[in-house]
Amino acid sequence: MRAVIPVAGVGTRLRPHTYTLPKVLLNVAGKPILGHILDSIISQGIERITIVTGYMGKLVQDYVTRNYKADVSFISQRESLGLGHAIWVASETFDSEPLMIILGDTIFDLNLELAKKSDFSSIGVKFVDDPRRFGVVVLNNQNFVTKFVEKPQERVSNLAIVGLYYVKNTELIKACLNRLIKENIRTKDEYQLTDALQLMLDEGEQFTTFPVDGWYDCGKSETLLSTNRFLLEQSPKSRQMKDVVIIPPVFIDDHAIVERSVIGPYATVAREAQVKDSVIRDSIVSDGASVSSTLLEQSIIGNNAVVKGNFYHLNVGNSSEVNL
Ligand code: UTP
Repeated sequence: MRAVIPVAGVGTRLRPHTYTLPKVLLNVAGKPILGHILDSIISQGIERITIVTGYMGKLVQDYVTRNYKADVSFISQRESLGLGHAIWVASETFDSEPLMIILGDTIFDLNLELAKKSDFSSIGVKFVDDPRRFGVVVLNNQNFVTKFVEKPQERVSNLAIVGLYYVKNTELIKACLNRLIKENIRTKDEYQLTDALQLMLDEGEQFTTFPVDGWYDCGKSETLLSTNRFLLEQSPKSRQMKDVVIIPPVFIDDHAIVERSVIGPYATVAREAQVKDSVIRDSIVSDGASVSSTLLEQSIIGNNAVVKGNFYHLNVGNSSEVNL
């Protein structure tokens, strides 16, 4: 099986962080989003990987080649023309083996065994109350997909496509992606992967679905922080430090410096970050950042950023009330 991970997008919803770093390299619970995805698939035996890069692709490639020995092909998508286009660009690396397409900004509880055992192509789905922001699948009563619909305005199905696609018939997806581009088939002005999958359905490919419960989006600051909370709950990693109070779960990198502070719950303090005289909870302090004399909550501090607070100098008389 080959994993295909598109990471070419600009990540506008995570600005200002994505002005200087591609979204997939943002730190969550101690390592980049892409690191979580790669660790999960490599530990489950995936050996061949295609990563579709674009925006700040060189940084992605440097990170992967520095940290992983797997057989990774990097393919460049010059313009973000949609997910269908990203997978089309990647298709030059496909041979006949099945594909697992994994969106680069989502961390999944992924069990590849389920997909490997499947006799059919299969789409990861989750029941959602409001499916209008998602692509959805419509099923028949044998649970086979009869239709893919991108961001439906009418309620055709509540089964949202979460960003995991297992494709058995690699030759057919290649042909359908070629058709998508050649015939300029776009929805909402983008080449959609769901349109290519619909073409596959029309050609007779059978798709089933598999449930995905663990699905942690990293596309916006609120969801990046909730994913940070979830991952810290799963594997808190910490160390004891003198004059530091730790309220688990937290991640404090071995190469971080923390002094006279309260860390946690749900705090990530990344490599070479420095935290002094501060209280940090439900926040991410990224690589090399420095925070001093500050209370932080629901905050993301970018790489090498500096945040300096103050202690108050107060001279408050008896029975006064001060709200700071
Ligand atoms: P998103 O729709 O979240 O796009 O793509 P984005 O650009 O990363 O983020 P926003 O919306 O501007 O904030 C989901 C995944 O598909 C990839 C993205 O990199 C992300 O991993 N993608 C999307 C591509 O690789 N190419 C595309 O043309 C579109």
